[in-house]
Amino acid sequence: MQARSDLSRRQGRKIAFVPTMGFLHEGHLSLMKAGHKRADEVLVSIFVNPTQFAPGEDLEAYPRDFDRDCRLCEKEGVSVIFSPDVKELYPDGFQTYVTLEKLPHHLCGISRPTHFRGVATVVSKLFNIVKPHVAIFGEKDFQQLQVIRRMVKDMNFDIEIVGAPIVREADGLAMSSRNTYLKPEHRISALSLCNSLKKAKEMADAGISDAKTIIDATIKQISGYPETAIDYVAVCDPETLEDMKIIDRPAVMALAVKVGKTRLIDNMMLKT
Ligand code: PAJ
Repeated sequence: MQARSDLSRRQGRKIAFVPTMGFLHEGHLSLMKAGHKRADEVLVSIFVNPTQFAPGEDLEAYPRDFDRDCRLCEKEGVSVIFSPDVKELYPDGFQTYVTLEKLPHHLCGISRPTHFRGVATVVSKLFNIVKPHVAIFGEKDFQQLQVIRRMVKDMNFDIEIVGAPIVREADGLAMSSRNTYLKPEHRISALSLCNSLKKAKEMADAGISDAKTIIDATIKQISGYPETAIDYVAVCDPETLEDMKIIDRPAVMALAVKVGKTRLIDNMMLKT
């Protein structure tokens, strides 16, 4: 992979990179399209990264369909799919991890304390292997995007990070590989995330600046749907991810909700 990227670089070709865990959907494909706009070729990785899953999470159950993914990548004009084995990225003796001091202590990091260490580690490795000029990440995983931006700044990676908007189903549900876990009867409850975010944005637009008022209304709305269990509902600073009390500057609402056994996340800017 490194030799392939070296060749592209020698030929003066600009490389865009889209890291994924596969089971691709329109959200992933939108990142590839964004890559084509910014570079001469788009490279995709497909790797279900074990270090970002905690014991008891869905590593083994994570949906996979490599052949379908290949077809979708080909349609999107992807020039290389990098899909290593776990042992290739994490050989015996592996012991170096990338950790951030503050960003992982908010939002998803509270219930998934080792998750962002796994993400930052694998993305660093992939950056060193794929050697892109630009890498595209979805705003769907808002905290992940901020973690990557911070890591790139802090570690002087010579890579431009681009955030791409959330792609949603027609009914508003944010696309996710994990949506395949949802039973048909859970679909309505899954919509509580985007519906309550829309309401929260309406409240902020109507001039309500007290974060707690909006959070309480959001919690109440989500709890009204069957089989929902809220992990968190937060209004935070988009860069530091620290909680905000008063929405008097850019603010994002982020939430994580279990619907049945499926943990879903979503977010929306309340003020830009
Ligand atoms: P994965 O969940 O496969 O997502 C890969 C990329 O697609 C991420 O940047 C994610 O934010 C983006 N994405 C997912 N759903 C999206 C949607 N509905 N709209 C827009 N973008 C969307 O995120 C990961 O994999 C992993 O943590 C990874 C970065 C590959 C490291 O292992």
